[in-house]
Amino acid sequence: MRKIGIIGGEGELGGALIRALLRNGRCTAGDLMICGRSQKEHLGDGTATTASAQKLADMCEVVILAVPPAAFSTLAFQTSGLVISVMAGVTLEQIMHKSGSRRAVRAMCGPLAVDQDLGFATWCASAGLTAEDRNRVNQVFVSGGQVAEVDDEAQIDFFTALNGPVPGMLGLVADMLIREAMSRGIAGHIAVRAVKAQMEASGQIMANADFDIAAYVQGMIRYDGTTAAAFTSLETGGLQPVLAGAFDAAITRATELADFSG
Ligand SMILES: NC(=O)c1ccc[n+]([C@@H]2O[C@H](COP(=O)([O-])OP(=O)(O)OC[C@H]3O[C@@H](n4cnc5c(N)ncnc54)[C@H](OP(=O)(O)O)[C@@H]3O)[C@@H](O)[C@H]2O)c1
Repeated sequence: MRKIGIIGGEGELGGALIRALLRNGRCTAGDLMICGRSQKEHLGDGTATTASAQKLADMCEVVILAVPPAAFSTLAFQTSGLVISVMAGVTLEQIMHKSGSRRAVRAMCGPLAVDQDLGFATWCASAGLTAEDRNRVNQVFVSGGQVAEVDDEAQIDFFTALNGPVPGMLGLVADMLIREAMSRGIAGHIAVRAVKAQMEASGQIMANADFDIAAYVQGMIRYDGTTAAAFTSLETGGLQPVLAGAFDAAITRATELADFSG
């Protein structure tokens, strides 16, 4: 038996998970198996490959599903083992129905972050998960960064919008900041450098465990300087409801992606 089989292991996210497992010593190539439609059969000492999802499920203790949601409906395999999905939108119920397993997990993380050990993986389990399964899930995702289990499946759709893509929405904010700078006559190459520096410094400062984000914001508002004026403008301009609408839109899209009824 192989430890982990990844259906879609040569894709963006599947590939990042494999690289993290190998990089951080949690697996050797011989522990792994990859399935993709274009894979040639190779079952030797290195990472085994197959085009058959069923063969992978038969040969692996853990099956990771990392195919696009649309491809999920075309997959056919059965297992009683642990099945971990990183697909947007696809529900625990759909995963259990497809695989026949009662031991299913829905997880979410971003490949670019996982590649730098900076991922934040959230996951939610079906009722059938064992303590050993939970340990295995954590071992898979801690390879690429941090891990948190949540007990409400709907929250995975929220995290699909928050941590699935990295930089995700912050990428749009950075782009808007660059465009704003350029609209004020600042040269593009300086605007890009300034925003990248701001994002890097902000990320490092806020990631520090001792940095209290809410306290920082309140402190700025109390100080009542230029930053407070900008914060007030953003709040009264409706930034919070706009952000809520962005998450609603992403969550609705995740549901659409996993609607195979049409
Ligand atoms: N990329 C991201 O930023 C990101 C972030 C969070 C979550 N996700 C989720 O991760 C999943 C994969 O996304 P991705 O961006 O990594 O996709 P991707 O780069 O397009 O890779 C998809 C992989 O799935 C394989 N595949 C497709 N159809 C298949 C089938 N019927 N049977 C077996 N293998 C099949 C492909 O290989 P072949 O072409 O050889 O079949 C390929 O290796 C998606 O469900 C997505 O929602 C992605």
